[in-house]
Amino acid sequence: MITADMKGMCDMSQSKNKGIKLAPSILSADFGRLAHQLDLLEQGGADYVHIDVMDGIFVPNITIGLPVVSSLKKCSNLTFDTHLMITRPERYSDKFARAGADIISFHFEACDDPWRLIRQIRSLNKRVSVAIGPDESVERIFRYIHELDMVLIMSVYPGFGGQSLIMSALEKAEKLRSYAINHNIDVDIEMDGGINLDNVRDVLDSGVNVVVVGSAVFEAEDIPQALRQFREIICRGGY
Ligand code: DX5
Ligand code: ZN
Repeated sequence: MITADMKGMCDMSQSKNKGIKLAPSILSADFGRLAHQLDLLEQGGADYVHIDVMDGIFVPNITIGLPVVSSLKKCSNLTFDTHLMITRPERYSDKFARAGADIISFHFEACDDPWRLIRQIRSLNKRVSVAIGPDESVERIFRYIHELDMVLIMSVYPGFGGQSLIMSALEKAEKLRSYAINHNIDVDIEMDGGINLDNVRDVLDSGVNVVVVGSAVFEAEDIPQALRQFREIICRGGY
């Protein structure tokens, strides 16, 4: 529901166009009603759906795989932002591309040859993103950044939703954003983990423009309204 002062303050649709993307993570969704939950994300104005794929080896959890992605693709217009938390992601990147992934993020430390995988994902005409965990230095990405559409900065240890944001991730985002600006590189910076209505301003102030929100949205009473609250903060903050 758009309140009067919100109308006075800002046009919510404008904030969608300013380049800040909301990417709800379905890891915290009701897996018994996923298609319906994706509808709610669209109603709430989400830009992406963040799909956490875990293999139980790279991270101590197993979530969803190819059949679920291809089924969901048939019932959603959202951009499928696919986060591969799997070992040797090069084995599956083409299959996830065919299943419906629009953006494919792989973990830098999970593959032997990042350059090869970056080129492979590009050749599939998908947007390519590299994810770095909390213990990874952001400087390691600098040599790849001009070939990437996005960098995913983990603000929690990968594997589970509902954790608290690790503040050092914000400094990484600041470093990455200034490096990109100084080198005239247009790259999205996604932050993933522990983001909520209280800390999202700090996240955006660090230069992040793609915000993953899992439990903060799916644990809310009203999922579309929870998304609209994030959008209102983005809009009021002039991001
Ligand atoms: C964790 C996942 C995140 C997680 C975010 O390994 O990559 O996408 O689902 O969930 P919240 O927002 O609850 O931390
Ligand atoms: Zn994720």
